[in-house]
Amino acid sequence: MKKHHIMLTIRLVGLISLINISCTTKKEAKPDFTFVFMTDIHLSPEKSAPVGFQQAIDTVNRLNPAFVITGGDLIMDALGQSRNRADSLYQLYSGLMKGFRMPVHNTVGNHELFAFYNKQIDTLDPDYGEGMFRRYFGDPWQSFNYKGWHFILLKSIEQTPMRGYYGKINPAQMEWLKQDLAQVNDTVPIVVSVHIPFITAYNQWQEGGQQVNGMGSVITNGKEVMDMLRKKNLKLVLQGHQHYYEDLFMDGVHFITGGAVSAGWWGGALGTLQEGFMLIKVFGNEIRSEYVDYGWKERK
Ligand SMILES: [Fe+2]
Repeated sequence: MKKHHIMLTIRLVGLISLINISCTTKKEAKPDFTFVFMTDIHLSPEKSAPVGFQQAIDTVNRLNPAFVITGGDLIMDALGQSRNRADSLYQLYSGLMKGFRMPVHNTVGNHELFAFYNKQIDTLDPDYGEGMFRRYFGDPWQSFNYKGWHFILLKSIEQTPMRGYYGKINPAQMEWLKQDLAQVNDTVPIVVSVHIPFITAYNQWQEGGQQVNGMGSVITNGKEVMDMLRKKNLKLVLQGHQHYYEDLFMDGVHFITGGAVSAGWWGGALGTLQEGFMLIKVFGNEIRSEYVDYGWKERK
């Protein structure tokens, strides 16, 4: 019988010290490059969210990473909104996004999908589902290379028969991913960004060891996708959706769920989770990461 050795370490938000940005790079070798992963922004005009997002953008600009990857739920919600409201949120986000002084690669979240819950909108409407995201940001799955690393963004959300959502990488992406990976040398380190996690211990941590994940909280065909990616040099999977910070390290792959820029949807910290984002530092073929609390406090 083949033996599998799985090393599992879990860093959870309650166990870490939040980072003081001014001292993050002291006494440390210079990384080859850095990038930011920021997820669950949930931007809307309410609750001073634009002020908070601008503060996060200003902090990123000071850190000056090579680029930003977002992890979805960029806007408060398009699932159950009118076209005008959803469109205005997309406009608000894409306007503020121009304030980043480096490229931004957007991952789609469930809250970007238009009108799943608004039955007045027909499923054949061009904006329906991922249509509005496409109109603003282009393909919801894409890849790019940077300094010898390969980055892949995937759409991890599909529609249930009752116009709900669940976690899945659809067949079109599976075919695209196969083609994409065929162009990548086996030694090239790979980073994947998704909104709904491949792997999370959140339910076990919060509710007990026997708690399983629902189909809305993990990618239901994640094993199939991992089987493809793990034939290559997969190093890091960046995930959103949970508004929680965790770092699972399994068989040499980090699965980082990256907290939330909005924490409790701009209503303050969510439990012990402050509003923040991930700063990823790349050293050769390895990464180190930090959760950066950019200092925003909710407005009463
Ligand atoms: Fe979210």
